[in-house]
Formats: sequence, structure tokens, C-alpha cells
Amino acid sequence: IGHTRWATHGVPSERNAHPHQVGDVVVVHNGIIENFEELRKELIKNGCRFKSETDTEIFCHLINEELKHYPSPLPSPTRGEGKLHSPSPLRGEGRGEGDIVFAIRSALKKVRGSYALVVMVAQEPEKLFVAKSGSPLVLGFGDKENLVASDVPALLPYTREVSYMEDGEFAVMDRGHFELFDKNGRRKEPQKSHIEWNPVMAEKAGFKHFMLKEIFEQPRVVEQTLMGRVQLGSGKLFLEGIDTLLGKTGFHYKKIDIIACGTSYHAGLVGKYWLEQLARVPVSVTLASEFRYAEPLVDKNTLVISISQSGETADTLAAAKMAKEMQAKVLGICNVLGSSLSRLSDVTLYTHAGPEIGVASTKAFTSQLVVLYLITLEIAKRRGEISKTDLVRKINELRSAPQYLEKILENAEEIKKIALKVKDASHFLFIARGPHYPLALEGALKLKEIAYVHAEGFAAGELKHGPIALVDKGVPVVALVPHSDTYEKVLSNVEEVKTRGAYVIAEGEVGDQHLLEQVDAVIPVPKTVYSITPLLYILPLQLFAYYIADAKGCDVDMPRNLAKSVTVE
Ligand code: M6R
Repeated sequence: IGHTRWATHGVPSERNAHPHQVGDVVVVHNGIIENFEELRKELIKNGCRFKSETDTEIFCHLINEELKHYPSPLPSPTRGEGKLHSPSPLRGEGRGEGDIVFAIRSALKKVRGSYALVVMVAQEPEKLFVAKSGSPLVLGFGDKENLVASDVPALLPYTREVSYMEDGEFAVMDRGHFELFDKNGRRKEPQKSHIEWNPVMAEKAGFKHFMLKEIFEQPRVVEQTLMGRVQLGSGKLFLEGIDTLLGKTGFHYKKIDIIACGTSYHAGLVGKYWLEQLARVPVSVTLASEFRYAEPLVDKNTLVISISQSGETADTLAAAKMAKEMQAKVLGICNVLGSSLSRLSDVTLYTHAGPEIGVASTKAFTSQLVVLYLITLEIAKRRGEISKTDLVRKINELRSAPQYLEKILENAEEIKKIALKVKDASHFLFIARGPHYPLALEGALKLKEIAYVHAEGFAAGELKHGPIALVDKGVPVVALVPHSDTYEKVLSNVEEVKTRGAYVIAEGEVGDQHLLEQVDAVIPVPKTVYSITPLLYILPLQLFAYYIADAKGCDVDMPRNLAKSVTVE
């Protein structure tokens, strides 16, 4: 058993590499344990010694501890009766399969979070014990062999017969036997499917491009970013290391400076609206490449938030380093554990989006927004700017965001049809107001970088100060029109471009009949509290750019002249 790790707890190092072993128990794990700190403390109190910084080692200890309760034969078989309920020795001597299964299942009950888990135990060296909740796990049925992996590509050299495990399921396998149990411990037959994909398609989970796969991953990514950080109903937030930076209570910084590049910069711009509207703190957002040469007014009263998916962007690193030299504290928002930015920052909040392969950033952006929103709520709470009821409501809505994103994805084919109607246009305008304005910039950036067409994002109110001169018959204008205080204003801007011949595509709330009557096409977005709408409104724009780029035959995942990480100035 092995695992190519995307680090969440503990930097990439040999010590933290999988498999992890404690006593007779060996584990590989993909996912995140939410109550990691709690469990670790408890285990240490009980005398366990940790060798790594990973959350995975928790499983080894928990299972090992459980097995100590079953050192000798205990009643009840797993095989034959088709049930996994009670512990059982199968062979009469020492720990049998039944004990091991019971120990693993008891350990899993203590864990909150997501896992895809493969366990080996010395007493049953021919067997693999497999469990899943939240993270993907696929079983493979080969010629006199059984296999398990996080993803189909790993299985393809051995078999094309696979079965996707469901949350809560458990499997025990050896070379020739295989048993699958549902979440109630009842035996079930695996639903097998035959995979037709070639290895390249399989890496993309059947999607044509990594970018499309990553767009579709966003509901799960949002869940992962939130995991362990919010508590429904109580309004409690758990942001790693935040007390180190902000102290136990209150908020003592006079202002916040956000620095970033590209898409991460756009996330920062949304963050400014949130922090100023909800937490009432002054915020400036500066492109890192400008910040470092602008003689910024930064001192120990400034909190610098530095955002980078890769954590290796040269300008962002240089700007963050400069801010530190000027006595500011740096809070990093980053996707890559152990990256240069995370080493440089005083505290880092990871986005947990998983590897982003497509050069055009999609899921990283959404996860950055989630982290920025959590920081906003934390500061608003510390500053007494948000009532408990409002906080609970906002957290509840945030937890529903993955469902809303799923709804938008269900409409992907409709978005494609709309995109294909305008695919041959050579200029695109994106307009919006408030926290959606940065999304107009981001929507335009996506289109520029992957479809190689000219696109500009504008604050809708700025149109008549110049950009409206670009509007001519048939020019596509994408307008973001959520229900908000500025709804009517954006509608007037839509009217202005419409009368000048623009082809208007609007994103608006589901069922907005009024909007439907004003424009040429509508992309419906589920209704939610206004503050989290930027999380939803970006998704159709990513799909829109993707479908246009793909229709034009562009190299979506590796657009010309661009690199995933810009590590030089
Ligand atoms: O890794 P970073 O977030 O620091 O990267 C910043 C930009 O280079 C990046 O967002 C770039 O703009 C993307 N290609 C946009 O899709």
C-alpha cells in the first residue's frame, strides 16, 4: 500500500510520508481529519507517541489502541453471516479478521472528517481493510487479484472492471476474495462498471480537460476548505493559528493590506468588499508586482494577507517578504503545504483545494474566497460587528454552498449552448457591481487566457466613463445581476448596452422573470444570502470561458505563453 500525498497536515517530508505504522497497524489515508488536534491530545495523554505531523497517524494509533481490547479470541464471524456488527476471531488464535474489522470500525467512529483508508494488520498480512467517507475510493477487480485506489487511472494498467465505493462502506479483500459492506455493516454486491477511458482520459476522470474536471470538483473543494473550520448552529469558527496572529480576543490592527497576483488578486478584491462591509476594517488590495515597488505604508499595525495558490509566485513572495521587513504580520492563504509563502508567513490558512493542474485557476479561486469569507467572519465577530444570529445564518448558508454549486453544474449544458452562440465574437465585456465586480475581472481573465480573445471586466457604473464606446451591434456583454441594493442600477446598465446593440447574457437569481425579459440569455444561479453569492456567480463564468476555448480548439490546460507558477519576476 502506498499514497502520493497532497499534504494537509505536516510538510512534505520522509517522516510524513505514507504508509504510517504504529505497532502492528499500517495505514495509508487520503482526506482530512477535522478533530485531529482533539484526538491527538487525547492519544498523547493516553501514552501514545507520534512519529509524524500527519493526521493519518491518528488512525494508526486509534486502531492500535482498539486492537489492544481484542488481544485474544472473541466471538462472532464476519464471513458467512454477511454482517460486520460484532467482533470475532476467525481462526481461534490471536486477532482475527473480525477483531480487526471491529477495531477499525470502532476507531472510525471517533473520527470526524473525510477519509479514504487502506489498513494492513500484521496478523492478517494477506488482507487489505478498506473504508471510505468523503474522499474517493475505487475498487478494481483484476485477474486473480483485487485492487483499490483513490482514482481510476491507477487501476487501469491492471483492470478495467471497477466499482466506486460509497460513503460509509467498508471492504475486506485479499488476492482471491472480496467482501463489501454497506454503512450498516450489511454485506452487499459491488456495482461494477467497465471503464472505456484511455489512460489520458482517466487521469482527467473522464473529463476532456483538467480545467473542466477542476471546475466540477468545486462543490467538494468548498466542503474540504470548510472542513473542521466551522460549526453549524453555534457560530464557532476554528481557523488554525489565528490566535497567534490576532490574540485571544479583539482585533488590534489598524488596516489590512491584501497582496496577490492574477486570479488570487481577484479573490483579494472580493475579500476587500467582505472585510469592509461585514468586519468594518479598512482594506487595500494591491497587485504584488506593484506593491513591491510602490513604497507602501505598512507597519506593525498592518495585517498583510498574501494570497497565492502555488505559494511560489515570485512577486507575491517578494511583496510579503518586504511587508515582514516593515514589521507587518503576514497571513498567508495558500494551497500548497510547505510552499515558500507558507514558510514565510506568520500564519497560513490552507485552501485544501488539492492539486490544480489546469493553468487557468478555478477551484483555487473558489477555495480562496471561502477562506477570505471565514477570515471576514472571524474579524467581524472579534470586532463585535456581527450578531450571533447573523453569524450562525451566514455559516449555515456557507455550508450549503456546495449544494448550490452542484445545481449550477447540473445546468452546464445550458451554459455551453449560450457560450457557443457567441464563441466567434472577438470582444467580450463583463460588467458587475460590488463584490461581483472582481468576478467580472476574473471572468474576463479566464476568457483571455484560455480562449485568446479580448475581454474586459468593468464596474458597471464605469461604462459611461469610456468603455461603453466599445459596445456595438452584437458585442457580447456578460452582466452579473444578483439581487442586491444595486440590482436596479445594474439593470439600467444592461439597458444602456442593450440599446446600443449588445448581445446581453446575464447571470441572475433563479426565477428572476424581470431579468429574463430584459436580456438575450439568462444563466440562473440559486438564491442565497447576498454575501456568499460571489462563490456561486464565478462558476458559470469559468464554464463559459471553458466552452468557448474548447470550441475554438484552444489548448485549454496549457494556454500559450503561460505557466502555472510564475516563479520569476
Ligand atoms: O499561484 P498564484 O495564485 O500565486 O498565481 C497567481 C497567478 O499567476 C495566477 O492566478 C494566474 O493569474 C492564473 N493563470 C489565472 O488563471
